[in-house]
Order: sequence, then structure tokens, then C-alpha cells
Amino acid sequence: MSKTSGDWSIRVATLGELPRLVEIELESDSIFAEVGIGPFQYDCSAAQLAAAAIVLVAGKAPVGFVSVEVVDDAAHIWQLSVLPSMQRQGIGRALVAAVCDWAAAEGYIAVTLTTFRDVPWNAPFYEKLGFVELRELTPSLADIRRREREVGDDALGARIAMRLELCRRGNAAADPRPARRGDTPA
Ligand SMILES: CC(C)(COP(=O)(O)OP(=O)(O)OC[C@H]1O[C@@H](n2cnc3c(N)ncnc32)[C@H](O)[C@@H]1OP(=O)(O)O)[C@@H](O)C(=O)NCCC(=O)NCCS
Repeated sequence: MSKTSGDWSIRVATLGELPRLVEIELESDSIFAEVGIGPFQYDCSAAQLAAAAIVLVAGKAPVGFVSVEVVDDAAHIWQLSVLPSMQRQGIGRALVAAVCDWAAAEGYIAVTLTTFRDVPWNAPFYEKLGFVELRELTPSLADIRRREREVGDDALGARIAMRLELCRRGNAAADPRPARRGDTPA
């Protein structure tokens, strides 16, 4: 798997670079200070990344990554991070698109995640990519939300679960992938 755009590409992470991805998560999360959120109870470790269903990175030297778990019937974005100096260039969008491609190829019907509702680069970002807020949670998603409340994430800001049905992938304008023959707008 390799998708090139600009001077970065998206590929599967190697085991050796997982410690760097943990650093990238910490660096990227620094932007939450802009909206008065943080610090977090960090739970991302190289060992946890190694146990993920897949970890995709952007760049030969990683500038961003996304880790994915399988939660109920869906591929679940556990962490998405782009270095502050590389943000607003479409890398986050491209990483999400790569997750959707991977999930569809693996036979999952949806992509899910939990995020802050009111942070511009959280729920509004995912909404642009076609994700919608879930009102009813599947059992494992409900467990994830319960754990988030337990570690204090909800005290930092309103959190929601979101889901993108892959068969209804929307907003072609927000999708960074080049149009392919046979692609149909949702
Ligand atoms: C979320 C994140 C990965 C997005 O990465 P990115 O490479 O900047 O994303 P993109 O360049 O694809 O931007 C997508 C859109 O998100 C929104 N967005 C991103 N950063 C934003 C910011 N600082 N302020 C407002 N909107 C922002 C914009 O709508 C942007 O589109 P635009 O640049 O065309 O206006 C990055 O902001 C990040 O690492 N944040 C810290 C960790 C985090 O919040 N992860 C997600 C947890 S669920």
C-alpha cells in the first residue's frame, strides 16, 4: 500500500518507527492548547500501536499516522496525528481516506471514531469527510466512551462517537484521492 501526494506518501508503518509515532502524537496534541484542552491522559504507546489492526504513516520519515482497531463491525480510528508543522496540507484527510480504503478491502462496512464535538479539527473535520454523529452506540463503542469518561476526557470537552458507512462515502470535494474510473459520487 503506498499513496503519494506532494512530498509525502501513505504506507504501512514499520515496527521500528512506532516509538517515533508516539512522539508525533504528543507533538500534534499540543495544538489542543489553542482551545484550552489538555493535557491528556496519554494511552498511546509503541506496544499498543504494535497491537493495532493496522498503523498507516504519511511520509518516508513519518510526519503523521493513523492507528486502527477493529471495534464491533467497524474499523475504528484510534489515533490520528499530523505534526503541527505539516498540518493543513491534506495529510489528515489522506490518512482517513487510506483507512477507508483499507477497511473496505478488509470487508468492514464502516469506520468509527470518538472525538471532541466542538474542536475545529475534530468532529467538524470528520463531518466534512462524511462521518455522522452516532446517537446509539454499538456495545464496544459504548465501552470506549465509558473508559473515556472514566479517565476524564469528557471533563475537557464534549465528546461524541462518529461513523462513516463505507457504502455511503460522501463529500467527494473533501476526499483527497484522485478520481478513478468507476467512482460514483455518494
Ligand atoms: C486532526 C489532524 C490529524 C488533521 O490533520 P491535517 O493534516 O491538518 O488535516 P487536513 O490538512 O487534511 O485538514 C483537514 C481539515 O481539517 C480542518 N482543520 C484542520 N486543522 C484545523 C485547525 N487548526 N483549525 C481549524 N480547522 C482545521 C480544516 O477544515 C481542514 O481543511 P482545510 O485546511 O481545507 O480548511 C491534526 O489537526 C492533528 O494532528 N490534530 C491533533 C490530534 C487530533 O486532534 N487528532 C484527531 C483526534 S480524533
